[in-house]
Amino acid sequence: MTDLAIIGGSGFTRLQELEITRRQVIHTPYGEPSAPITHGIFKNREIAFLPRHGTAHTIPPHKVNYRANIWALKHIGARQILAIAAVGGIGSEMAPGVIAIPDQIIDYTYGRDHTYFEHDLSQVTHIDFTYPYSEKIRQQLMMAAKTTNIPVVANGVYGATQGPRLETAMEINRMERDGCTLVGMTGMPETALARELGLDYACCAVVANWAAGKGDGPISMKEIEEHIGRGMEQIIALIEALVESLEK
Ligand code: HPA
Repeated sequence: MTDLAIIGGSGFTRLQELEITRRQVIHTPYGEPSAPITHGIFKNREIAFLPRHGTAHTIPPHKVNYRANIWALKHIGARQILAIAAVGGIGSEMAPGVIAIPDQIIDYTYGRDHTYFEHDLSQVTHIDFTYPYSEKIRQQLMMAAKTTNIPVVANGVYGATQGPRLETAMEINRMERDGCTLVGMTGMPETALARELGLDYACCAVVANWAAGKGDGPISMKEIEEHIGRGMEQIIALIEALVESLEK
């Protein structure tokens, strides 16, 4: 049974080590997911994979159909989601190349379809979102980091911005005052939608660049891509260790 699903972010449109068994096209009441769901065997365990930005990385963060993606993963029977995301580093501990496992979120996005509780409600529903990420998966990721000797920052406040443009230096200053240590464009509403459907969800973030105004000069896509490329090897090792630990 496919219990664990991985949502791949920028630079992670496929999981090379996955022995693919089938691809499943799913139509949801919320429209089409970013791509067919890839099912396969990874470290002797059946898992599912969905590239958030589409198979060819053509869907920008504000156009991702988050509701369809999360609905599709629930539909195939996933109960746990590990989301991979490239982010900018705001906190001094979040230098490019760092891998962080955030524990909080602040949502700065707007105009995105952000809830399943909209129409035909028999009652108004407010999910608890005090702790947005699954502590169980976060702890499993930390254990995976220990076994693989991969240094990770065990917490972080993910500020989710609208994009697709990067932020201004002042926006980052404001986010820092709010308490954000990371900035990315896809954390919301994805995380909240997973909670609405009762799925355990955690994020593994690769810091690709210093956030605006925190490094020297403008942010280049080349820099971002280089750090993501290097970070992904570590992410794959972490996923391997995580999946092996789930089997026990
Ligand atoms: N800001 C927002 N999203 C990002 C960044 C950033 O600096 N880097 C990678 N994703």
